[in-house]
Amino acid sequence: MASRGSADSDQSTPGPRHIAIIMDGNGRWAAQRGLPPSAGHKAGVERIRDLVSACKERGVEALTLFAFSSENWQRPPKEVELLMSLFHSYLRKEARRMREEGVRLRVIGRRDRFSPRLQRAITEAEEITRDGERGNLVIAADYGGRWDIAQAARTMAEEVAAGRRTPDSITEQTLGDYLLLADLPPVDLLIRSSGEQRISNFILWQAAYSEFYFTDTLWPEFDEAALDQAIQAYRQRDRRFGGRTDGGLAAQA
Ligand code: IPE
Ligand code: IPE
Ligand code: MG
Repeated sequence: MASRGSADSDQSTPGPRHIAIIMDGNGRWAAQRGLPPSAGHKAGVERIRDLVSACKERGVEALTLFAFSSENWQRPPKEVELLMSLFHSYLRKEARRMREEGVRLRVIGRRDRFSPRLQRAITEAEEITRDGERGNLVIAADYGGRWDIAQAARTMAEEVAAGRRTPDSITEQTLGDYLLLADLPPVDLLIRSSGEQRISNFILWQAAYSEFYFTDTLWPEFDEAALDQAIQAYRQRDRRFGGRTDGGLAAQA
């Protein structure tokens, strides 16, 4: 990792405008306390409210949280049930508060595998917060990065089949426009808690040039200070996007 001095210096990388987080480690947090995973998930949900406000205070325009992956259906049925009910009560409880704070909420992922009741709660929360202009909270639920790319490809293939587009028009730019999050700033910073260093089928395409930050902190303990550490690390990164940002080296070429 290239360092460009302190986060407060003029040299620091601006932003991040968009942070994505793989909220991992609830099970281990609970196990350390002799508790079942459900206790970890409950404690984990409690972290979200403060984090949304903290991001807003720090000028972050969008926060995307990985809450349930397309592979998490493989968890024991009781755990899946608990996660679904936590998601439902979170939406019911928080949507109004988000509207007051001017935060727009959206959920990305497949919806058809959720119960009709949960699907309704999602739609309602999105409706209630629709006019929010002071920040975006995206919850990825039954989301998979491969699924996202496949759904974009399928939509474009349907347009080709219907004669509304030609195969030539399918480019990185146009395919990218069909992926979820396309209307938000690019994901600058991707955080994963709990010490795991993998993407677990989260945003694949969208993370092409994200800065990755891994912390051993377990999700139920990820607080504002942990967020600030991640942002500080991000601001010291040298984002080159394949080019050269170092004046000296560029001059020598
Ligand atoms: C993350 O915590 C939450 C979800 C995947 C829904 P985990 O439940 O994966 O926690 P660990 O990895 O077992 O500690
Ligand atoms: C990724 O965590 C999914 C979420 C945090 C929602 P997992 O705990 O499911 O990932 P793996 O199984 O360790 O790769
Ligand atoms: Mg995990």
